[in-house]
Amino acid sequence: MDTGDTNLSNSDNRSLSPSVTPIRTYLSVLDLTPDSLEACLGVAERLKQERRMGFSAPTTSALSGHSLALLFDKPSLRTRTGFEIAMRELGGTVTCPPSADALGTREELADVARTLERWVSVAAIRTFEQSRLYEFVKATTKLRIVNALTNEEHPCQALADCLTIKERCGSVQGQTLAYIGDGNNVATSLTHAASMLGLNLRLASPKDYSLPEESLAAARQAARHGAEILQFDDPVEAVRGADAVYTDVWTSMGQEVEASHRRDAFSGYRVTDSLMNEANPDAFFMHCLPAHRGEEVDPAVIDGARSAVFDQAENRLHTQKALLLMMLQKI
Ligand code: CP
Repeated sequence: MDTGDTNLSNSDNRSLSPSVTPIRTYLSVLDLTPDSLEACLGVAERLKQERRMGFSAPTTSALSGHSLALLFDKPSLRTRTGFEIAMRELGGTVTCPPSADALGTREELADVARTLERWVSVAAIRTFEQSRLYEFVKATTKLRIVNALTNEEHPCQALADCLTIKERCGSVQGQTLAYIGDGNNVATSLTHAASMLGLNLRLASPKDYSLPEESLAAARQAARHGAEILQFDDPVEAVRGADAVYTDVWTSMGQEVEASHRRDAFSGYRVTDSLMNEANPDAFFMHCLPAHRGEEVDPAVIDGARSAVFDQAENRLHTQKALLLMMLQKI
């Protein structure tokens, strides 16, 4: 990918890179064109390099005059703090109204959206059903809206995951990733991004916990560069030939009552050293965090030399910065 055409600037030059299609919403990776997704990763790489320059980085006031509202119905470390630091390092400001005020029963979501659009440029929202985001989108014409995780999708995570694979492998296209475990929101967004970037995906989930059919169908429709998405029952089969092995918690936020049942259902799907040894010799381990050591992953794997999990966590910042610049038409 050529990132030389990106236009990161403190100036008021609003011209977009030719490879970036303007978007008002990032509810799903599928909201991006494949070219915009590649451009976003390229910008994130560059921002990561330039961060070493501190206050001399060329983007320190790129979002001056812009504000971001963080509306979170669920706990978060990486997404929320990543957005706070991103906005501050780009010269913008952040506001975090309590979820009871902004996402509760106090008033309709549409009225929250119509109020916020008078004050802020972007709202990043973490909530339950994706349909709640659509209520925001429908109510405003100006506000940019980012999905900071819903029950269905986690598109901000997928950006950091793809950047991590690109850094480790030199490119995303043509690599093979095995995803072991719950076909959840993280898996859905990863599948969307993988298919758009030409990353082959091998998914293994217990019966009844595989990726939703509609996620698979959408990913297959978006697939480029011959990206293959294959499903397996057996995790050993799934990791054979993989350059990276990814897992996530067995019980996501909001599913706590199912935890015991899920522990039984997923018991053969833990990522262990012996499972990692079935993958390619240089294969690395990925997890979006937070992790439950001893459940979906052994401590020896997540804390071992093959783990890329803190690169992924770090890359949440750089990719969220790139996303904000893209949505506010600064690249
Ligand atoms: N991976 C992730 O979204 O982390 P947080 O829940 O801490 O934001």
